[in-house]
Amino acid sequence: MANNKTTALCSFYVTTPIYYVNAKPHLGSLYPTLLADVAARWNRLKGCDTFMLTGTDEHGQKVAEAAEKMGMQPQAFVDSLVPAFKEPWKQYNIAYNHFIRTTDQYHVKAVQDWIVQLQKQGDIYKATYEGWYDLSQEAFLTEKDLEFREPGEPPVSLMSGNKARWVSEECYFFKLSAYQDRLLKFYKENPDFITPPERLNEVISFVENGLKDLSISRKTITWGIPFPGDPSHVTYVWADALNNYLTAIGFGDKNRTEEFNTWWPADLQVLGKDIVRFHAVYWPAFLMATGLPLPRKLLVHGWIRINGEKMSKSLGNVVDPVELGKQYGIDPIRYYLMRYVAISQDSSFNTEDLENRINTDLANDFGNLVNRMLTLALKNNLAHVPAPWHRHDADVQLQNAMHKMLEDFEREMSRYYYHQAYAVLWRFVASVNRYFHDQEPWKLVKTDTERFAEVISTTCHAIKAIGLLLWPVMPATIEKLFKALGVEFTEGTNYITLLHEGKFNTDFTLSPLEPLFTKYEEKKPDMTTTPEIPVQNYLAIEDFIKTELAVGTITAVEDVAKSDKIYKLTVDCGTYGLRTICAGVKKFYTPEELMGIKTVFVLNLKPRELFGITSQGMMLMATNSDGKPTIVRADESVPAGTKLK
Ligand code: MSP
Repeated sequence: MANNKTTALCSFYVTTPIYYVNAKPHLGSLYPTLLADVAARWNRLKGCDTFMLTGTDEHGQKVAEAAEKMGMQPQAFVDSLVPAFKEPWKQYNIAYNHFIRTTDQYHVKAVQDWIVQLQKQGDIYKATYEGWYDLSQEAFLTEKDLEFREPGEPPVSLMSGNKARWVSEECYFFKLSAYQDRLLKFYKENPDFITPPERLNEVISFVENGLKDLSISRKTITWGIPFPGDPSHVTYVWADALNNYLTAIGFGDKNRTEEFNTWWPADLQVLGKDIVRFHAVYWPAFLMATGLPLPRKLLVHGWIRINGEKMSKSLGNVVDPVELGKQYGIDPIRYYLMRYVAISQDSSFNTEDLENRINTDLANDFGNLVNRMLTLALKNNLAHVPAPWHRHDADVQLQNAMHKMLEDFEREMSRYYYHQAYAVLWRFVASVNRYFHDQEPWKLVKTDTERFAEVISTTCHAIKAIGLLLWPVMPATIEKLFKALGVEFTEGTNYITLLHEGKFNTDFTLSPLEPLFTKYEEKKPDMTTTPEIPVQNYLAIEDFIKTELAVGTITAVEDVAKSDKIYKLTVDCGTYGLRTICAGVKKFYTPEELMGIKTVFVLNLKPRELFGITSQGMMLMATNSDGKPTIVRADESVPAGTKLK
């Protein structure tokens, strides 16, 4: 690892969350990785030395269970999945400096040494933990994180919407409660610790509510870093994972002290809103205990949603970035995610919007401008565009507009509101288009060749400025563009200062360029084609036919007094017999409305106990736009017991 700083005046260390390797990455995993890559590239454009870290979170129960499902040993399982992360990151031009795996031996050792240090100073003690656990989040839950929905059923974790599990075991605790006051003091003194700032309020109220000590070991699982001095325990996955931000740059290794001191504290840590508590509470407390400075900023982003739901592996609604990249090209997707997924909120993803933006922003606004200018200049033998002798007002105005835009752009970038920064840049793209249109260089070429050259020169300068600011988001496209403009581009040069000082007074050597972006036909919805979004979790037909779907007639409806949701139905399922099936529709239907209805049931679900009734199937319903489950009626001519296929 060549990680030491060179002679640059500034350095910038940025991290992504490390991804659980229980499945391949999806668009929601690409998004934070891109946010970090763009931050690093933006800083390189300012001449800074940068270090970007990403990697995989490989321990914990969640990963162990995924391995077991595949019938694999956890280590072999995680080894097999790591390329599924590295390859898309390469495809997407993610210029990370190091990819950490929490199974890397240097990390394991450093985490164990860290625990020993905390134990020695009295920050860790042994006791019994009893409480609820959210497996999908690998999180110990407080009362406020839980909702008890159905008597006799485990509560639902509000962190994920999944059922919580009861955990009762002896474990080691970190004295988190001892850091409560120091944390509150830190938030007060550093109101900019989190972007967007509103997120800090949630953190403060969580801490003000009182911090309990944090369990940092697990005894009932074996897939984790062995707890030093007590091999019957493994380290809690978050106590292991958070430390990756330190160990990757040499923490705990005497030979790497200089490197560690060069990069720590991190300048920016990117993470999703679901893992704020870990990063804004536990992580700072761990660092305080370790005697290290805290990161300078956390960038907390919202979720990419599909049809209103968070895109996630467990919901099976994920978009595969690899397929998407093949279909639309890497840079258009990078641009779209940075420009149209606002970090401050959740955003819906659909390919129709992606295609529209590629057509309008990229192909029309920017791509056409470049093409028209290049074609016109080259067709009229202006391959060498000289620096202009004198300039008209319109040229000076465009230069001034560029400087003003640059200030606004930098302000937005410095708070990581990329979507706004690129909106600012696009207003300038519109100004350049207007300039080109108003100057009518295609007429000038016939009447005033000197002025023609000046207009082309001004346009080239403006396009170069746009290109530089777009480079963090679309590096490959811009490098191609720069070749066609004869612009030498060397990473590490402080281009932003040069742009500030720039006077639109250099020359350009132009060469032909293929159109930078492909336009997409406007699509009419076509119900006969396969879904536009490439979905990873296709179900094999062999799996689908395992579901016994059949028509049944409701022959009795009984109220279940103990529940405000459930009716007990008796359903005539023909050859499947009479079934007892519980249906949670009391709020929406009277028993009379349900009697005699012929609809579709799943008949081979594992029977479930609800209020002392064994439910032997499930009625399928479709929720309407008011949130009411509606009945999917089977044709009266279909006999009860007919299987759907
Ligand atoms: N392993 C932990 C992080 C440990 S960091 C020390 C983890 N992993 S994760 O794979 O579940 O999620 C990693 C990141 O991806 C999180 O920041 C999460 O917010 C982000 N995303 C996962 N799905 C997402 C969307 N649908 N949209 C945007 N980001 C999402 O948590």
